[in-house]
Amino acid sequence: MKVAFLGTGLMGLPMAQRLLDANIEIIAYNRTPEKLAPFRTAGVEIAEHPHKAIAACDCVILMLTNAAAIRSVLLSESSRQQLAGRTIIQMGTITPTESKAIAEEVIAAGGDYLEAPVLGSIPEAEAGKLIVMVGGTPEQFERWSELLQHFGAEPLLIGSVGAAAAVKLALNQLIASLSTAFALSLGFVQRQGIDVESFMQILRNSALYAPTFDKKLQRMRDRNYSNPNFPTKHLLKDTELFITEAQSAGLNISSIEGVRNILEVAVQRGLAEADYSSLFSSVNPEVLENYQINSAE
Ligand SMILES: NC(=O)c1ccc[n+]([C@@H]2O[C@H](COP(=O)([O-])OP(=O)(O)OC[C@H]3O[C@@H](n4cnc5c(N)ncnc54)[C@H](OP(=O)(O)O)[C@@H]3O)[C@@H](O)[C@H]2O)c1
Repeated sequence: MKVAFLGTGLMGLPMAQRLLDANIEIIAYNRTPEKLAPFRTAGVEIAEHPHKAIAACDCVILMLTNAAAIRSVLLSESSRQQLAGRTIIQMGTITPTESKAIAEEVIAAGGDYLEAPVLGSIPEAEAGKLIVMVGGTPEQFERWSELLQHFGAEPLLIGSVGAAAAVKLALNQLIASLSTAFALSLGFVQRQGIDVESFMQILRNSALYAPTFDKKLQRMRDRNYSNPNFPTKHLLKDTELFITEAQSAGLNISSIEGVRNILEVAVQRGLAEADYSSLFSSVNPEVLENYQINSAE
């Protein structure tokens, strides 16, 4: 089998590497060709245009930012002409509505489409330990499970196209909301002059604890948001996707709208490319700390 891998960003690069490590032949495409340098050096086939990669394979994996990126790579006139008889596996985070619309267009062009968004980040992608959620038919799931197992040992069939995209957004809503809630309590404790470790000990032993708190604690305490696995701009994107979909489902979205505002402020502070724990700087701005220190003097 030969696989076209379109989108070798933070997640796509280690995922494509997993296929190479398993001796699966790939042809890779990325809008910014410089990011393909490690593959070029390793002799991996590189496509200059997405339609050339699609034409060369039966299966196309997409790991792109959003629906606009997917449309420009997959549904341009030249790419559309190559879709007949090919299976598209879309693995980025988009809304169920977007995923269903893209599926319809792929099918209209004679192709097959399933979604397989993932939970986990770069370390899990490198280790093949992502949680892969599949939206498609049982037949598609059976056919493509073996390939998807290179990314995560036990892909899960959630339902038809749209179902896995929905679960992925529900999970990312929790990432955004839990991290913001934790940042607020951490900032509060710090400003009250309470020992953070005492607070954490109580939290860790309580039903309120989530492992993600300890994952982000040190970054927040040090205000160190460098070398991101998951940048703030992507969490903001996923939060906006969730809001759009939840609003049309008739849910009260006021809590997550507050979280969106926190993320927007972090982006305005120049932290779009930083780790999403940078939302702490929006919840607990250092400018105000300085102001308080100065006014106390
Ligand atoms: N990072 C994570 O921890 C994580 C975890 C789970 C899911 N996800 C989801 O997985 C997807 C990819 O995430 P990532 O972290 O790998 O993002 P990333 O590093 O920003 O990579 C995004 C990819 O999309 C391409 N792209 C963006 N806009 C494009 C356009 N208009 N035309 C063509 N290509 C375009 C980029 O090309 P260039 O290189 O040219 O910019 C790059 O290959 C996103 O949907 C994200 O939400 C991410």
